[in-house]
Amino acid sequence: MTKIQTQPPRGTRDFYPEELRVRSWLFDHWRTVARSFGFEEVDAPIVEHAELYQRKAGEEIVDQLYHFELHDRHLALRSEFTPSLARMVMARQGGLRWPIRWFSIPQCWRYERMTRGRRREHYQWNMDVWGEAGVGAEAELIAAIFAALDALGLAPADVRMRINSRALLEETLRDRFLADRPDAFAPLCVIIDKLDKIGADAVVDQLADPAGPVGLPRPEAKDAVALLSVSGLEEAERNAPAGSAALAGLRELFDRLDDYGLADRVAFDASVVRGLAYYTGVVFEAFDAEGSLRAICGGGRYDRLLETLGGKPVPAVGFGFGDAVITELLADKGLLPELPRDLDAVVFPFGADERRAGTLLARALRAQGRSVELVLGEVKLKRALADADRSGARQIFLIGPDEQARGVARCRDLTTGEERDEPLP
Ligand code: HAM
Repeated sequence: MTKIQTQPPRGTRDFYPEELRVRSWLFDHWRTVARSFGFEEVDAPIVEHAELYQRKAGEEIVDQLYHFELHDRHLALRSEFTPSLARMVMARQGGLRWPIRWFSIPQCWRYERMTRGRRREHYQWNMDVWGEAGVGAEAELIAAIFAALDALGLAPADVRMRINSRALLEETLRDRFLADRPDAFAPLCVIIDKLDKIGADAVVDQLADPAGPVGLPRPEAKDAVALLSVSGLEEAERNAPAGSAALAGLRELFDRLDDYGLADRVAFDASVVRGLAYYTGVVFEAFDAEGSLRAICGGGRYDRLLETLGGKPVPAVGFGFGDAVITELLADKGLLPELPRDLDAVVFPFGADERRAGTLLARALRAQGRSVELVLGEVKLKRALADADRSGARQIFLIGPDEQARGVARCRDLTTGEERDEPLP
């Protein structure tokens, strides 16, 4: 028989208890913050209809899909949660009370090239608001992200949020290049999103590729890339058409973020467009201040996604915040907690004659809500004490022949070493 590989598939993780404790700690913070903003948790299957993910704008995420045919069905592991969420909203579109505020913590799968903080599966905290067109929704979501970063122990200066609006870029480009080919905008954003990764020249080449999805004349492709380096809202305003609604929206968003005390932690950045085709409005990404890691989280407004899936239009905005980059950042800053196992007590019956008394005591303690490990099998006292110490338990209950005869267990406090008798149930 061939021996199985003990490592999980490359880019995926096993979670042993000590790792799962840290993961649960992170998820608890996410859940607490989401609930404090009035969001309700939802979930969906990890296997979805592959067609839900098959968009044609040249996004990397589409090529990274884990997909397969099974009984004539084309299925895929979810690469992100937003398409499932759209499907769920669409299924109940007539009966939902808007706006809805839902959060989720799905595991997502992408066959990605591995770098620090990027893997082939990750857990992603999502918060989404559906049915609200105003930037108040964006402000709430961005405030929730910072609330989570604060709760995790990061200092305000550790993370910066960069904010832009695809609608602003679209308005600015519409008169110049997009008037006769509006469909080129989504693929244009997908290409522009690669700026940091492949550099300006390569972005211009791709925008100007006559066989590509955008096919801009080269000088116009260069102009489009130049727009990404404008360095403030004032300069963006000079490029935008008069009375730009997108610009007004961005200004309002920055004002609202000021109300949340976040003005110093956010900045306009014209180069943030995000790599997913469905965004239509405000887009945002948070990065560590040193810029040594990939995006901590990212999101934006996607008011037309439901239409592209055949539903009625509903405005929507949300974000995804993965577990991988934040864990790297917290580890770099020494902020990942050492979490002991959470065990209240060990019950140790010395031998077969005391086993029943031990079982009844464990049952009684568990009924009081305590976490109790019952020692199984024949174990020496020394070994049981050492194991109890290592387990992080607070107490051990010893039941030997003498204790049983007296109707008690000897209860030792494992921190102070103090002992006392406790009556057996
Ligand atoms: P995304 O930018 O593709 O957006 O992913 C959001 C976050 O998920 C990233 O910023 C990162 O924290 C994490 N992430 C993504 N891919 C990986 C990976 N391969 N390894 C580790 N972490 C990763 C979305 O997925 C959108 N659906 C988010 C959204 C929700 N927009 C609106 N609502």
